[in-house]
Amino acid sequence: MNKFYVTTPIYYVNSYPHLGHVYTTIIADTVARYKRQRGHEVFFLTGTDEHGINIERAAEKAGLPVKQHVDRIVDSFKTAFEPFQFTNRHWVRTTDDYHKAGVRKLWQAAKANGFIYKGKYEGWYCGNCNEFYQEGEAVKGEGDVLLCPTHERPLDLLSEESYFFKLSAFQDKLIAHYEANPHFIRPETRRNEVLSFVRGGLNDLSVSRVSVKWGIPVPDDPEHTMYVWFDALSNYITAIGYGNEQFGGEAHFNKFWPADLQLVGKDILRFHTVYWPAFLMAAGLPLPKTVYSHGMWLSGGRKMSKTLGNVIDLEVLHKHFTPEVVRYFVLREMVFGQDGDFTYEALLDRVNADLASGLGNLAARTLTMIRNFCEGVIPSASEANAELTAQANEVREAVALAVVAFDREFDEYNFSRAIEAVSNARFRVDKFISDAKPWDLAKDPAKRAELELVLHTAAESLRHFAALLAPVLPNATQAIWQQLGESGQVNEVIPANLNWGGGAQHKIGDVQPIFPRLDKKKIMEEIKQEEAASQAARAQETKPEAPATATTETKPAEVAAAVNEPAPGVAYIGIEDFLKVELRVGEIKTAERVPKADKLLRFTIDLGEAEPRQILAGIAQYYEPEKLIGRKVIIVANLAPRKLRGFESQGMVLAASIGEEGRPILAGFLEDVPNGARLK
Ligand code: MSP
Repeated sequence: MNKFYVTTPIYYVNSYPHLGHVYTTIIADTVARYKRQRGHEVFFLTGTDEHGINIERAAEKAGLPVKQHVDRIVDSFKTAFEPFQFTNRHWVRTTDDYHKAGVRKLWQAAKANGFIYKGKYEGWYCGNCNEFYQEGEAVKGEGDVLLCPTHERPLDLLSEESYFFKLSAFQDKLIAHYEANPHFIRPETRRNEVLSFVRGGLNDLSVSRVSVKWGIPVPDDPEHTMYVWFDALSNYITAIGYGNEQFGGEAHFNKFWPADLQLVGKDILRFHTVYWPAFLMAAGLPLPKTVYSHGMWLSGGRKMSKTLGNVIDLEVLHKHFTPEVVRYFVLREMVFGQDGDFTYEALLDRVNADLASGLGNLAARTLTMIRNFCEGVIPSASEANAELTAQANEVREAVALAVVAFDREFDEYNFSRAIEAVSNARFRVDKFISDAKPWDLAKDPAKRAELELVLHTAAESLRHFAALLAPVLPNATQAIWQQLGESGQVNEVIPANLNWGGGAQHKIGDVQPIFPRLDKKKIMEEIKQEEAASQAARAQETKPEAPATATTETKPAEVAAAVNEPAPGVAYIGIEDFLKVELRVGEIKTAERVPKADKLLRFTIDLGEAEPRQILAGIAQYYEPEKLIGRKVIIVANLAPRKLRGFESQGMVLAASIGEEGRPILAGFLEDVPNGARLK
């Protein structure tokens, strides 16, 4: 049996869990379920990072012994994660003894190989990142106070005796490894970033602190505690038995290491792709196969973070949405690897379009008709008229294509496209049902064969969709599976092994709604009130620590004012002016970078015309061209052509512009739309 080892970063216990943490864990859980379903023996690890100066300080402020304080926060992480039914095999805690033993072994191995030595360190330290910054990297705050570039909080100037890790010795080895293993860092853009960072030279790394007490003591020199990143990164090996007897120790470690997939946010990419492999090389251990860096969920255009106080509150989220739909949304909405803006509106729209009106409705209408017209037994494929038979064959082919496309995309970690492949096949089934009108066929006994073929085809499609989407929607797909009269667990069925027609003659179960439609207006009103209340409560709890909350609190009012009152001096246009702009739906057929132009992508886009158009757009820093192929976008179709870098651009792609940097978010559609359709 093939093994598969997938990890999430371990979460800092310096505050409460939020959507950002859940995101990485959802991805890991979905990959774990996908691999398990396809027969792998999976070890999925998550956990908590519990040492460091910040945690020591927070405990002091809470008036609690540090361990008691971290236990409390670990519980809050576990509670927040619980509704998601994550299938991690273990929850590692860096305060656990087996972990400490493993870290000591890693340290000793690196030291014995000559890669750890003693020296003196001086630098600007952020207790939130647990990282030193050069003066040039810091941001200047009021009164020229140096601030952390990530957390925008004051840096501490530290000077102390320290152990150093000889990172400089690994520059060439790392570059050679990146070059020989193009999949070691993914996606490609991040790999390039890391490559150029490492090519720029590496300084030795300070890996111990005398000023921090809450940490793992350095072997044979307990005045020093280990740098938290040395401690934290080691979790990936200690938790599976390196240097301890966890899960049977070394044999277990050798079975699962190296990890197949280490998921990390792009904010911690360098730690995982420079420091971590260097630590492993220093100890003579193999490197993980892939470190995949995902993008950030933004809220209001900025990274969602506890320090900035703009996080999506999990309590509010759980109150209105099942964990299933949240899983679906984050996997479908965010192009994996890129940033995405989280809004409740988008979540509601996505759930209603794809799940309530989409998959849920397909299940409800198919099963209800089988109950009403076929005595609750899924009909076999009857010999119907030629036209309908041809259409049913097309549906069957569309589903077969989705089965292949889902795995192909998923194996590349293109979750959004994998799910989209299923939606596309579902659109085909929906159209087949709407065109064939089984409710009319049922009225005419002469059309019995046609009715049976339609319902057979719909039920078989649904059966395949349930198996495909099992890693994404574990409970909903199991419910569909049972309603189709199938026995056993859908998550044990390999979609590619399903036989078309294998569900025929099964007696269906009770027909229950799977995804009720959500009332957008009502839910949005409730959420606004709950968020305001919970922000006020959090602000109260964290007041001295989090000045950023004050800015966030003023936000909803500012936004409301902007929406309700017309801005002074707005010059209205008439509808005739608007109609001069010809907006059309286009489908991206090809996409590539323009040589020597960092910002430009060159597309060919199908607007339903005889020839696709060539259109250029300045979005190359935010989108990977290959991930845009097949995407439906909005085009200004009657914009005068103009030349950009020698290429004629025959239109303009519309995008929202977010935040100060004007980050583009491509406009698109939740439902299927034909190429060339006009927007008005
Ligand atoms: N403790 C370190 C990781 C050590 S791993 C050896 C850490 N912890 S964290 O709690 O701050 O973040 C953990 C993960 O959550 C990271 O992958 C980070 O990218 C992810 N996220 C935190 N905020 C996020 C968003 N707003 N959006 C997406 N993921 C985000 O870093």
